Amino acid sequence: MTLYPQIKYEKYIREYVDISCSTVIEGDSYITLQKLPDNFVQCVVTSPPYWGLRDYGIDGQIGLEAQMQQYINNLLSVFREVRRVLLPTGVLWLNIGDGYTSGNRGYRAVDKKNPARAMSIRPETPSGLKPKDLLGIPWRLAFALQADGWYLRSDIIWNKPNAMPESVKDRPTRSHEYIFMFTKSEKYYYDSVSVREDNRNRRTVWNVNTSPFPEAHFATFPPKLVIPCVLSSSKEKEFILDPFFGSGTVGEVAQKNGRKFIGIELNPEYIAIAKKRLQPDITQFLKVVGE
Ligand SMILES: C[S@@+](CC[C@H](N)C(=O)[O-])C[C@H]1O[C@@H](n2cnc3c(N)ncnc32)[C@H](O)[C@@H]1O
Repeated sequence: MTLYPQIKYEKYIREYVDISCSTVIEGDSYITLQKLPDNFVQCVVTSPPYWGLRDYGIDGQIGLEAQMQQYINNLLSVFREVRRVLLPTGVLWLNIGDGYTSGNRGYRAVDKKNPARAMSIRPETPSGLKPKDLLGIPWRLAFALQADGWYLRSDIIWNKPNAMPESVKDRPTRSHEYIFMFTKSEKYYYDSVSVREDNRNRRTVWNVNTSPFPEAHFATFPPKLVIPCVLSSSKEKEFILDPFFGSGTVGEVAQKNGRKFIGIELNPEYIAIAKKRLQPDITQFLKVVGE
């Protein structure tokens, strides 16, 4: 018995593909992006897998690298391709989570409520760090992207008023994540008026409750977090990209606001979840095969 409905792909991509309407592509984000044209996406909103946190159960997934630097290098390669497909006026909103070194624990036991959190491996403590150190991945990645040519325009604190309690007594409970705003050029599109709050320019701390999407067993974007990114950095009919599409939240927000989107996701089960959320008549489904 298959848990998810069969996905009907309109086309199997081997080579370059020109995109004209909203599209979900099953494939590895780095390989898939290489098949897309230059300069056609206006805005990117995405949340890559965090390092060493979760096994999405599929070959080729990012996040299970043995070394932290390998993980950062893999993301750098993906975002170099993202920059190529982005228009010169384009903006990238990147949500990225942090974690702690594992100390001496070799693996994470199965969480009965959330089997995806079981890890067969747990990365070693990176050299230079100690057991219990905060990894600092968001800023390490931000500096690496900046050095790679991106303009780092803002860090946003995503404050989660409903953050999960933690069983720690030797530090505060973590209740925020970072969202970085990067641009391809010095001058870019940003409609500050569309995202004003309390009659003034939007601030850098955004209070948004986490809101799990019922069928997805992984962290999904609350739509409220995505909306200001899409509204401020694109106009109607323009393309929004999410190279780590998951359950398709970015696609849903794009559609509701009259934008087109490209979603790339490796796991066909998640694409099936996304398919149910998206308007079928205006969305095409493609799959990357071979290399
Ligand atoms: C944090 S989740 C994104 C969730 C998404 N923002 C949502 O709202 O549902 C990260 C996603 O990246 C996918 N992924 C991991 N490695 C990938 C790769 N190499 N290429 C494409 N997708 C990948 C995972 O399957 C997972 O769905």
